[in-house]
Amino acid sequence: MTLIDHEHHDSENYGTGTGLSRVDSQTVIATLQERLSALNDLHLTLKHVHWNVVGPNFISVHEMLDPQVALVRGYADELAERISTLGGSPDGTPDAIEKDRSWDNYELRRAPAQKHLAALDAVYAGIIASHRAAIDVTGPIDPVTQDIVITQTAELEKFQWFIHAHLARDAE
Ligand SMILES: [Fe+2]
Repeated sequence: MTLIDHEHHDSENYGTGTGLSRVDSQTVIATLQERLSALNDLHLTLKHVHWNVVGPNFISVHEMLDPQVALVRGYADELAERISTLGGSPDGTPDAIEKDRSWDNYELRRAPAQKHLAALDAVYAGIIASHRAAIDVTGPIDPVTQDIVITQTAELEKFQWFIHAHLARDAE
């Protein structure tokens, strides 16, 4: 009986805290870093909308956003700690957000709820598409990371439904 399975516990894995090879860890870490920057951008953008929304639907949108800020900040923390678990160094700096940014900057400032919600809808469409792409990348390599990203995607999609519901009411 072999106590240590050298094939799956060699020096390549030392320090990663997981059974992944170094190459696979680096692939997952790179994917997670891009998602970390996207979530850091998102929770800042949600606060920006919280501060800048005006009009008859001010209070419902203003109050809808803060729980989502808390959720998304928690998701950023979860991905950053997964990067550390995999032996990487999560980059949570503003520079990292700028470097990883593949999406448009949020353009609106003081504006009515309907305009902010339409802009946020576009933001969420991009975030969700990229989270789903990360599900595809991580699945064959690291289903544990994939599971984290899947759970986050479900909640992000639920919040996009909140946005759609508000827009539908505004359209009546
Ligand atoms: Fe506030």
